[in-house]
Amino acid sequence: MQRRLMAFTALAALILVLSCGPKLNPNEIRIGEYGSLTGAQATFGISTQDGIQLAVDEANAAGGVNGKTLKVTALDDQGKPEEAAVVVTKLITEDKAQVILGEVASSLSLAAAPICQDHKVPMITPSSTNPKVTQVGDYVFRVCFIDPFQGQVMADFAMANLKAKTAAVFRDQKSDYSMGLADFFIKRFKDKGGSIVLDQSYVAGDVDFKSQLTTIREKKPDVIFVPGYYTEVGLIVQQARELGIKVPLMGGDGWDSSKLYEIGGKALDGCYFSSHYSPDSTDPKVQAFVKKYQAKYGQVPDALATLGYDAAGVLVAALKTAKSLEGADLRDAIAATKNYNGVTGSISLDADRNAVKPAVVLRISGGKSSYVTTVNP
Ligand code: PHE
Repeated sequence: MQRRLMAFTALAALILVLSCGPKLNPNEIRIGEYGSLTGAQATFGISTQDGIQLAVDEANAAGGVNGKTLKVTALDDQGKPEEAAVVVTKLITEDKAQVILGEVASSLSLAAAPICQDHKVPMITPSSTNPKVTQVGDYVFRVCFIDPFQGQVMADFAMANLKAKTAAVFRDQKSDYSMGLADFFIKRFKDKGGSIVLDQSYVAGDVDFKSQLTTIREKKPDVIFVPGYYTEVGLIVQQARELGIKVPLMGGDGWDSSKLYEIGGKALDGCYFSSHYSPDSTDPKVQAFVKKYQAKYGQVPDALATLGYDAAGVLVAALKTAKSLEGADLRDAIAATKNYNGVTGSISLDADRNAVKPAVVLRISGGKSSYVTTVNP
């Protein structure tokens, strides 16, 4: 009897919770964020979170938006596409997020963007560069450049600055980012008269790359392009040096993590990668940002932190001009972003909801990267 009563009480409580839903505070604007706070890409998610939070704290300190406070709910997707879909669904349906910030990795943005599109909740990815991401639909935006440009920047740099005539490519076959960037690099390198001597692949999570690297070594390329993420790249560069490969390895923004230097160590000396910003810039706007970020988090902001900060900044500006906080109005306000004065450069969104911005090329030596050049689109 008592059991029955307990079961009944539990059921009644459940129905009550379901019918009321979460208590929504009308004075809050609900921002959902998803990212890899743990796993092999954890620095991506953590840096992005830190950048977003800094921007949101500043906006709130300045009075919020139209009298409302911004509140960020950040959920961990562990760097897994299935999880990204789960947590974004939760952010939208349970937490009632009015806008979504994330992801970093293109494959994860691609897993969650259709959910945002279906629910008509705008999503801004700070840093996913694969072209397909914003092609998901008119609710999906980004504040970074895209990979056809990034691939072109590194192919041109290899040929013009490093005098490379031949290149090998070593890509992650499970990553939309890596697959796309490899293709764009190859296309440009060939168009400019270079030759690709080998196109090899690995899968994220691999730890032994020696057999592919041995094949690459036999082909004697002038450079090796590795468009991957820092965990695998660190190991690849180290194993390449162990095998006696001396030529520069190069990559894209996925190299940008303090962990890269911990994993790859001295082997990274003389390698190059492209990114969205350099903390070395003498631009007062960049220096002011680096200073306040360092004061708050005790480290120099990487590209992800800076793009997170800019993505949140673009959102705050759009929230101020939006007719209402309804999905369609918010979408229109974000789409109208023009000349937003970001730390990573001036941000204007084009008809395809992409930002057109310069890239920087960085050179690694002594466990850190330093600025080499800026390439304008
Ligand atoms: N551009 C990468 C992607 O699309 C993500 C990334 C951006 C990683 C910037 C590091 C720095 O997957």
